Amino acid sequence: MQWQKMLNSVALVCLVSVGLNAPGLAAQQAGDGDSPSQQQEHDPQQQAGEGVDFFIGTIKPLLERTCLDCHGPDDQQGRLRVDSLQSLLDGGISGPSVVPGKPEESLIYERIILPPDDFMVMPATGEPLTEEEQQQIRQWIEQGAIWPADVIVGSPPAPEMDDVAGVEVAGVEVTEDEIAAMNQVASSGAIAMRLAQSTNWLCVDFSLTDTEVSEEHLGLLEKMPNLYELSLAGTAITDAGLARLSGATNLRRLSLQNTVITDAGLEHLATLHNLRYLNLYGTPVTDQGLKHLESLSALERLYLWQTEVTEQGAAQLKEAVPGVDINLGN
Ligand code: HEC
Repeated sequence: MQWQKMLNSVALVCLVSVGLNAPGLAAQQAGDGDSPSQQQEHDPQQQAGEGVDFFIGTIKPLLERTCLDCHGPDDQQGRLRVDSLQSLLDGGISGPSVVPGKPEESLIYERIILPPDDFMVMPATGEPLTEEEQQQIRQWIEQGAIWPADVIVGSPPAPEMDDVAGVEVAGVEVTEDEIAAMNQVASSGAIAMRLAQSTNWLCVDFSLTDTEVSEEHLGLLEKMPNLYELSLAGTAITDAGLARLSGATNLRRLSLQNTVITDAGLEHLATLHNLRYLNLYGTPVTDQGLKHLESLSALERLYLWQTEVTEQGAAQLKEAVPGVDINLGN
């Protein structure tokens, strides 16, 4: 019964990567309070899940196709980038470009609906957006500008978790302790669930909670031998906090993007021998820190956009871990 409860709270990071057809995520999106009242009859969790699908299926490809060339890693016209929610909230020269819930106050919407011959219309060159595309952007902002923390516009798709359906399905036996820990994590507002119905492997996602991840919560993670996927993206996790993960040797995917983790924190990951995916996008790590990752022989994907890591540092890691695909964002 407790497991059922966990299954009902849906992990965003699982939803995105495993493609579970799950009902929604227990997330508080900025701007929820501004949702039009007619939507309040719907199940808010289901709505948020649909919002994630809408973002990934429609808005992300639209931004990539029509805006990214001039507002991405290579070029920041108007000092604006559209490849993360944060950069849209920060905006460019004129201030915030997106105000969640308020398309009329959102510069990206204002600029795409200008008449095609207006010199301010966006995109600045090429075909203007169709009316349908304009409405899609409008709808996305209106519904709170849902943007899962680990999805970066312009990045290659996250690796498939092909092993979930295969031989590794079972996981290890679930103990009472682990169930209790899961329930405690779930009741803190984080997302905690099984990866799939047929497995004991667990997924925990703190990325949508308050940024604080307490010592107590990190302690709970130590009681979860089935922990397979963990997101601490955008939280206030510290280098010292990461020490609590060093026993999570079954962990396959770890999202630490947009945190203050430094080289010293990476030292605590050296024992995670099963780690396949590690996202360090937007952290201050350097070449020095990558040395701690040389023991991670199973590593397949490493995201290092907007870090201090150089081409040489990446090449050196690749020598130690030949199977790793390193994304420096250029
Ligand atoms: C061919 C290049 C190009 C493309 C493609 C493009 N833009 Fe721009 N954009 C610019 C330039 C140049 C500026 C700065 C001058 C200006 O504000 O008109 C700008 C400015 C902006 C600004 C104002 C930023 C600020 O704070 O002043 C917004 C908002 C914007 N673009 C949104 C978009 C969106 C949304 C798309 C995709 C639908 C897009 N742009 C596609 C060139 C481009």
